[in-house]
This record gives sequence, structure tokens and C-alpha cells, in this order.
Amino acid sequence: MSFALPSLPFSANALAGRGMCQETLELHHGKHHQAYVTALNGLVEKNPSLQGKSLEEIIKLSHNNSELTAVFNNAGQHWNHSRFWESLSPQGGRMPGALEKRLAADFGSVDKFKETFKTAAATQFGSGWAWLILGHDGKLKVTKTANAGSPLATGEGKLIMVLDVWEHAYYVDFRNRRADFIDNFLAKVANYDDAAEKLQKA
Ligand code: FE2
Repeated sequence: MSFALPSLPFSANALAGRGMCQETLELHHGKHHQAYVTALNGLVEKNPSLQGKSLEEIIKLSHNNSELTAVFNNAGQHWNHSRFWESLSPQGGRMPGALEKRLAADFGSVDKFKETFKTAAATQFGSGWAWLILGHDGKLKVTKTANAGSPLATGEGKLIMVLDVWEHAYYVDFRNRRADFIDNFLAKVANYDDAAEKLQKA
């Protein structure tokens, strides 16, 4: 069984009024994410030891394995992007009370969380990702990874929310302005309902 591109959980123009236009989503989802899925399927087809394994299993076994770098890069990008679409919403920016409380408890305040997340996303050198995760100590924390890395690969904690800071995520809407893209995400696009749900299940 091969891996498939998941549908976006909203229409391609659903975030157009919120700083993520249809062109961005069509390129990012339909072209870039699809390319990772296609490449991953090609690599799995050529490597019987990967066949029948879940995406999560493939990411963990290929992480830090120099013979499986291409597998890790494409599998990681597929998983990360799938989680990224879940972290976006046409009703983004609204934060449920339960999540607000947890963020305030673990970061000091919601503003402090946003500041920490923004710093991580803005200072990720080159391509990568900023994550809100639930650490093994039961506390929410912010982390960042380069390229196709993720907290799933490192075993650092459970994913709650993720932001793609690869340039292909924002160059149409926020050319060369990653900081504005991050602010806009936190204020208008971030799916805090999904984050609260993931936290409840974590
Ligand atoms: Fe991306």
C-alpha cells in the first residue's frame, strides 16, 4: 500500500482572507507536499525492508541513518506537512479556554507562549519547523527543527501544533517577511481548537 496525499481540511481559498492565498496552498499542498509523497512511495518501492511499515515507523527507523537520508527527508516532510494542515483553520486564532489555561500555566501567559513560539520560528536558520509539544514531564514547550526533523523523529514529545517556516510556506503572501507570517499565523490562522484536542488526547 502506498502513501497518499491527504486532502486539505478546508478549501484551497478558505484562508485567502487570512494571509494564506489559494496560490500558496495549491503550490504548497498540491505541488510540494505531493512531491514528497511521490518520492517516498518510489523509495519504499525500491526497499523491501520498508514495505508494510507505517509512516511513523519509517520516520523513526530512518532518523539519523545515513543510508536512509532520502527516505527520512521525504517521510518526515510528508508527516510534518500532514500535521501542518491540521494546524491551520479558517476560524484560526480563537483559543479555547482550556488551552489558554494550560499555556498560561506552562509559559507564564498566552502572550509569553506566543513570544516564545515566534522566537523559535523566526530564529530557525533556513528551512524548518516550529512546534508546540507536550514534553515527557507533562508540560507544554516550544521547540524547532531543521528540514524534515520533528519531535516524532527525536522522541522529544507529543505534537500539539506546528508551523512550517520553509520559504515556500510564505513567499507569495509574505515575501521575505517571515516574522509577519509568524505573527499572522498566531493571530489569524493557528487552529487552537485542534491543538486543544490533540492536548486532550496526548
Ligand atoms: Fe512546507
